[in-house]
Amino acid sequence: MLKIVMLKIVMLKIAMMRHFARRIIGLGALGGLLLVGGCNRQWEFAPVDMWNRSRLKPYEPATSGSFNSSSRQLVRGTVARGQLRTDEAFYNGTLNGRLITALPPAMMQIGANPVSMREIVERGHERYDIYCMPCHGAAGQGDGMIVKRGFAPPPSYHIPRLRTAPIGHFYDVITNGYGAMFSYASRVPPRDRWAIAQYIRVLQRSQNARPGDVPANLRGELQSKGRVGPSGTVPLSETPSLPGQMGTPHASQKAPVPAPLGPLDSPGQPGDASAPD
Ligand code: HEC
Repeated sequence: MLKIVMLKIVMLKIAMMRHFARRIIGLGALGGLLLVGGCNRQWEFAPVDMWNRSRLKPYEPATSGSFNSSSRQLVRGTVARGQLRTDEAFYNGTLNGRLITALPPAMMQIGANPVSMREIVERGHERYDIYCMPCHGAAGQGDGMIVKRGFAPPPSYHIPRLRTAPIGHFYDVITNGYGAMFSYASRVPPRDRWAIAQYIRVLQRSQNARPGDVPANLRGELQSKGRVGPSGTVPLSETPSLPGQMGTPHASQKAPVPAPLGPLDSPGQPGDASAPD
């Protein structure tokens, strides 16, 4: 009986010694690994050595291999997500290299939602007042505040050359700048450029309105008040808002009285020959 108990105690002791021995060996091995891991190739202890070793910074010139830069070139023709611009009319204002003469079809919808001409013009009005009015003036006469303070005066939008210019020209001027005017590409995204261009069309028409632009029921009222100038033009301040879609071409509105155009370079301003009051 006693022998059995003694044997058990001895076995227990052996088991405990084994246990501790294993631990000590384990810890020793771990410590050894850590120490060796902190050494450089010359077996000197240098714990931060890996950080200081040679490595390439992004875009650093590199001499090894067939590349001369630490960063690889993009594969030719790579386009960033959302940057694919295949719609020449919308993004360039041209079709087969020629400036387009009507809003690009992509303007008439956002995603699947249709956009009305009125929404486009209202957006254009707002953007125009922010980005263009300071120089070009509220009605596009080229008499904005910055010009009054000495900046090079832009031409009026109402000169014949700009009245007959294709709408793509206005998009192009906003995108690329023109002479003394710098580019607005970084501040005005393509959709807003078209909206502004369309609003310029509205401004141009507003300064050369004809009796035919006035709704028939209001036309008589205008004439009886003597608001129609001798040349047939209606001063801007007297032009009632147009019905339906804005910016529709003249040809689509049947003018019963074919009115001659007023003097082109002196649009209906107070004091003008075309504006009696
Ligand atoms: C800082 C003043 C300034 C602002 C702001 C400005 N422009 Fe101009 N713009 C000019 C000047 C100056 C010219 C004349 C450039 C020349 O002929 O050298 C000009 C010319 C133009 C022309 C006539 C180009 C031609 O064919 O003769 C158009 C169209 C035009 N600007 C549209 C715009 C639009 C649209 C905006 C707003 C997005 C705008 N500009 C904002 C100064 C400005």
